[in-house]
Amino acid sequence: MESESGEDHTSTNSESKRVAGGAALAAGHVADVLWAAAADSPCLREDLAALDLTGRPRVGLAGDWHGNLGWAERSLKRLSGLGVRTVLHSGDFGLWPGEQGAKYIRRVTAVCEQHDLTIRITDGNHDDHSRLAMIEPVDGVRWVTDRIGFFERGHRWLWADTTLVSLGGAPSVDFEHRTSGKTWWPEEVITDDEVRSATADGHADVMLTHDAPEPALPAVQRILDGPSYWSEAALVYAAEGRAQVTKAFSGVTPRLLIHGHMHVADRGAVRIPGAPWDTQVVSLNCDEGVGNLGTLDLESLNVEVI
Ligand SMILES: [Fe+2]
Ligand SMILES: [Fe+2]
Repeated sequence: MESESGEDHTSTNSESKRVAGGAALAAGHVADVLWAAAADSPCLREDLAALDLTGRPRVGLAGDWHGNLGWAERSLKRLSGLGVRTVLHSGDFGLWPGEQGAKYIRRVTAVCEQHDLTIRITDGNHDDHSRLAMIEPVDGVRWVTDRIGFFERGHRWLWADTTLVSLGGAPSVDFEHRTSGKTWWPEEVITDDEVRSATADGHADVMLTHDAPEPALPAVQRILDGPSYWSEAALVYAAEGRAQVTKAFSGVTPRLLIHGHMHVADRGAVRIPGAPWDTQVVSLNCDEGVGNLGTLDLESLNVEVI
């Protein structure tokens, strides 16, 4: 399961990034200005889903960028080259306090404007939930800028006759080594109400989560079964989180599930106990890894991972 700290927003080396932790991110207020500006953007009052998908039933996929600006820029350019204008991101995007976090948001927004892209994010554990809570959602999306939005947990919508539901959040197994409100947020936990919100309308074609539910893909299961360096309390905390996302997964019984968090690329079919069909599951790799990006055809539900 995920063990990275994920908050060094400049390193292009995943390992050094994970060791560096959040110490490099001093407190700052530039992000406040960004969020205030976003709240006033007229773009937020548009039906962006209809606008940016007209004639384009294919969207991009990505996840676990951890504020890695270089990777984010390269990935957005690559996805733009594939002809997509909307990117569905499976969380740990890298929304982070401080000036470095604000710079990341500014730069990613600028790249999105350059390529006419919009990123819609299923929140992870390594995203600043305190900030997200300050943003009023518009049609189920909290817009950080007019190019970067986070789905409300349990948000459900229709694109190209395909129903989608997003349920972010995941427990940080290393929460005991983090600082609440600075490098860790208790709101990362999926609540019972959020599970109910995701499942209230039953089946959806596509489900987007950050955490990986049961039944897990083989590569994910190997991580879960592998050696652990965490305390018993941390493992219980992580298991409780997976139980929540599993409950929601079983209630939605999607045809396709896309998740992140485990930092491993894998895909395959699983059968939810009692479900009448197999669910195709795609686990996206993290930044700097093969299998971090992909495309989703909203009509056929075909996923191409790159
Ligand atoms: Fe992550
Ligand atoms: Fe994560």
